[in-house]
Amino acid sequence: MDKHTTYKWWKEAVGYQIYPKTFYDANHDGHGDIQGIIEKLPYFQALGIDFLWICPFFDSPLDDNGYDVRDYYKVHENFGSMQDIKTLITTAKKYNIRIIVDLVLNHTSDEHAWFMDVKNNPDSKYRDYYIIQKANQKMPPNNWGSFFGGSAWEKLNDDEYYLKIFSKKMPDLNWANKELRSALYQIALWWLELGVDGFRIDAIAHIAKDTTYENSTLKSETMFVSDWSKFSNLPQVHAYIREFHEEVLAPNDAFAVGEVGGDPSIEDVLKYCAFDRKELDVTFTFDHMWCNNIDTATSLANLKTNVQELKEKLEYWQVSLIKRAWYPLYWNNHDFNRVVSNYGSQKYPQQSAKALATLMYGMWGTMFIYQGEEIGMENYPFTSIDQFEDVQAKGQYAATPTSQKEAFLKKLIMTSRDNVRTAMQWDDTTNAGFSPVKTDILIHPKYKEINVQQQMQDPNSVWQYYKKIIKLKKSNKTFIYGDIVFKDVIDEQVIQYERFDDTNHYLIIVNLGEYECVIEIPKVISIVLTNTSVTAICETTLTLAAYDSYILKIK
Ligand code: GLC
Repeated sequence: MDKHTTYKWWKEAVGYQIYPKTFYDANHDGHGDIQGIIEKLPYFQALGIDFLWICPFFDSPLDDNGYDVRDYYKVHENFGSMQDIKTLITTAKKYNIRIIVDLVLNHTSDEHAWFMDVKNNPDSKYRDYYIIQKANQKMPPNNWGSFFGGSAWEKLNDDEYYLKIFSKKMPDLNWANKELRSALYQIALWWLELGVDGFRIDAIAHIAKDTTYENSTLKSETMFVSDWSKFSNLPQVHAYIREFHEEVLAPNDAFAVGEVGGDPSIEDVLKYCAFDRKELDVTFTFDHMWCNNIDTATSLANLKTNVQELKEKLEYWQVSLIKRAWYPLYWNNHDFNRVVSNYGSQKYPQQSAKALATLMYGMWGTMFIYQGEEIGMENYPFTSIDQFEDVQAKGQYAATPTSQKEAFLKKLIMTSRDNVRTAMQWDDTTNAGFSPVKTDILIHPKYKEINVQQQMQDPNSVWQYYKKIIKLKKSNKTFIYGDIVFKDVIDEQVIQYERFDDTNHYLIIVNLGEYECVIEIPKVISIVLTNTSVTAICETTLTLAAYDSYILKIK
């Protein structure tokens, strides 16, 4: 049987990711909430959304905005109550919208009852739920660095450290302990029982560690080494995920998308989600997110997309995975800067937002839109370190030597996750319609120009373009299951690929540059979608202005 075309609801569905804190404040306390999501269900329906991935709303000290879970069975009071979640699930069903929750299983908060017991009780039965090692002459057990800057270890007491590959308030769980694994599966089963359709599984690539705990031998300028291989994509991960699949996912036919960082290869990814692996359904990888000079650029003005590299990355994943595993299509999530700022144009922001949508969502895979992407929201114009709220930004800034802090701040302004955590821009009223009361959530100054209300009314808006592309994808199976072939990049700025099956043949053309260029094209039968005003193409050459894009029927 052809597993590529075997029906699964999530292959044909369009997902929308919500960062609840900054999405919509329904109870007027200055903070986004679950009721806010419920109120916006008609909005998702209007756009064509089939499922929502909601970032963590569990009880938490919010050190990492909820990715530090204190109680998996409780909703943080800022977001509402468990009753609100139940209402969300049942109301969403009426709109044919499914809910996916963000399961954080690599670590808990240091305020989770298990870890509190470890801290307070030397004989705690939960000690082995975490990764605790002897200090090395009063220093951390080894030189491993943390994703959030500094050491990957934090002092538990005078003689011992615990592993925390993210923040010190997020101790890593010890998946080698069977009792712990069972407790985690119970959590997942409980949420499925409540009516969710699956999970986005946080940091899943890191649940197994190199248990020799030997120093990294990678060369590093800093004392603690960013050697992700010590806790990423290790063989044991798969045994754990298979067990999770068998005990949790399979009996409930639950959807699971895993976040797989740590620089995985195609072979690594196939181990997680090849059709016959019985692990996850899809995995998020990050390869296509860094195809520009963001490491050396000093401001958005001199940021330049490496179009050739971007094409190669997209092609690599699309062509290597097709018919072997399913794929998620995304430009943005809560951990990156805004795609319009990253790969789009400062001069033509809205036109480039549409071009980028054409490029990404014309490919095969499940669409994941991140809140605000559908109206082309941009990076926030940060100017100083005090404006950042993210624990990662603060941690990395603190770990940067004083002489490099200024340069690091410039980088942070472009790359920080806080860029995508500003308030959703609903309309041109107070606080962009996010909340009517005083809020400490950042409001982007361009909200009067870029907002949902205005764009829903404007036939040429980014929002309307997203709506069209979603409709196209959902009404035409060639865009879901069709094959894909990429063409050579033209003028270092034009990416082209074809999508086809026995019935249809399409050519997708995207100009990712600010310069006009002319390309040769085959005979065009019709224009399926474009962000230009062109309505027919009779010639075999096509002039592309800045960020023009087309989906053309060619056979
Ligand atoms: C994932 C999340 C990120 C979080 C981290 C630790 O990468 O996407 O937001 O900070 O895991 O949970």
